[in-house]
Amino acid sequence: MEDYTNPYKKTAAFWDQAFYQAPDFDPEKPLGFRELEKALQWLGEEKPRVLDFGCGHGRILLCSNKHGVSQGVGVDISKEAVEKGQHIAKKFGLDKNFEFIQGGIPELKKFKDDSFQGVIIFNVLDNLLPDHGKLLIEEIKRLLSPGGKFLLKLNPFLTPREISDNLPNSVPLEDNLFLEQSGLYFWNIPSEKLKNLMAPELTIEKENEINQGPNAPKNRLFFIQKIN
Ligand SMILES: C[S@@+](CC[C@H](N)C(=O)[O-])C[C@H]1O[C@@H](n2cnc3c(N)ncnc32)[C@H](O)[C@@H]1O
Repeated sequence: MEDYTNPYKKTAAFWDQAFYQAPDFDPEKPLGFRELEKALQWLGEEKPRVLDFGCGHGRILLCSNKHGVSQGVGVDISKEAVEKGQHIAKKFGLDKNFEFIQGGIPELKKFKDDSFQGVIIFNVLDNLLPDHGKLLIEEIKRLLSPGGKFLLKLNPFLTPREISDNLPNSVPLEDNLFLEQSGLYFWNIPSEKLKNLMAPELTIEKENEINQGPNAPKNRLFFIQKIN
């Protein structure tokens, strides 16, 4: 792969700053959104080993432990996020079963086919360049074992009107791809397109709308399974 980190320098700097300031959390405490807890219960039913790509400081990954997830690997481009994740895992005695790796899609190469029975990708696929997003989905198809479960959370699909209202200073780079003022990419993915990218190995079992409070946009949450 050509240099992966280069296009994400601003992304990494943005999240480094955010996670540097983030307080520790207690993985035992509820996330505060019942639908997310229920989704993690679904993921954790078979006590899986889980990959969380774009894990941040591991809030979702470490909280998934109480819902049955037995082991986890978090991958994130932000050094600060990964270090904080490692620190919190250690603080709560989870570091034997949960590890954090700084990097991105190239780091996934080190894992063998069918290495994970579960995957979490929350609010990162739509911040990738589309070619990388497609590559990530191909890697998930390889890494998830047959029957494995995959939770994918995304921003809502925005109409052109919503783009100009919500992202007024963003720069269009190509069809459905924008560069936000923050330096983050926004890949505006229609749900139908997602279905096509998943096929044929991954099937979308259910799509839910997640309400994350008054200051956050409603997200799409997809329950996906790899065919047996
Ligand atoms: C919105 S945060 C979500 C964090 C976590 N998934 C959650 O839901 O709490 C996006 C995360 O994706 C990571 N990220 C963004 N682009 C990435 C890339 N190209 N490769 C790996 N991680 C990336 C960021 O560093 C950040 O931690």
